[in-house]
Amino acid sequence: MKIIVTAGPTREHLDPVRYLSNPSTGKMGFAIAKASVEKGFDTILVTGPVSLKTPKGVKRVDVVSAREMYEAVKAVDGADLLVATAAVADWRPAKCAKEKLKKNSMKGTIELVRNPDILKSLKGMRKIGFAAETQNVLEEATRKCREKDLEFIVANDVSEKGCGFGSNDNRVTIIRRDGTVLRLPKMSKLAVARRIIKEVCRGA
Ligand code: PMT
Repeated sequence: MKIIVTAGPTREHLDPVRYLSNPSTGKMGFAIAKASVEKGFDTILVTGPVSLKTPKGVKRVDVVSAREMYEAVKAVDGADLLVATAAVADWRPAKCAKEKLKKNSMKGTIELVRNPDILKSLKGMRKIGFAAETQNVLEEATRKCREKDLEFIVANDVSEKGCGFGSNDNRVTIIRRDGTVLRLPKMSKLAVARRIIKEVCRGA
C-alpha cells in the first residue's frame, strides 16, 4: 500500500513577509504518517510549514502554498490512498508582491482567488478527508464526504478545547460514504491515527 498524507497549514503569501494561514501544527498528519509506517505502508508525507520531526521511515516533501501542495501530491506516482489532514487555504491573494509592501501602498482590501481543492481533484485512488468544523459538524462533514467522493471523512470539532488545532489529543467522528457514523472518544492524536489506519485496512 502506498499512502500520501497531507499535513499542516498552507501559507498564501501577499508579499515575502506576509501571508494568510491557519493554526495547524501538523501533529494530526504526522501521527497518521507514523501509524501508516507502523503498518508497513510506503508513506509519503506532503507537509506545509511545521516544526515537527519526520517520523522514521516516512518520505517527506515540504511545501508552502496550496498550489505547491497540489503539485507535490500530483507528482507522486501510483498512490493507493490519500489521507488529507492538511488545513489547506481555500483562497490566496490574487497577487504576491516581489518586495515587502509599504504601509502606504496598501489599500485596506485584499483581492482573493480560489485555490485548487486537492482532495476533490484527485482521482483514481482511495480518499480519506478531514473536516475541521466549528458548527453543524456532522452535517458539514457529510456534505464534504459526498462532494469530494471520499471513502470516509473524519469530522473534527475544532471549537472543543483541547482538540483540533495544535492539541496533543483529538475527539473525532468517522462518517462513511454510506452514512455510517462512528464516534470515537477523546484520545491522543497518535491513537486517533492508528484507529484511522485500522479503518483503512478494514476497507482494503
Ligand atoms: O495540524 P494539527 O494542529 O494537528 O490540527 C489538526 C487539524 C485540525 C488541522 C486536522 O485534524 C483537521 O481537521 N484537518 C482538516 C482541516 C481542513 O482544512 O478541513 P476542511 O474542512 O477545510 O477541508 C476538508 C478536506 O479537504 C480536508 O481533508 C482538507 O485537507 C481538504 N482540502 C481542503 C481545501 C483544499 N483546497 N484542498 C483540500 O485538499
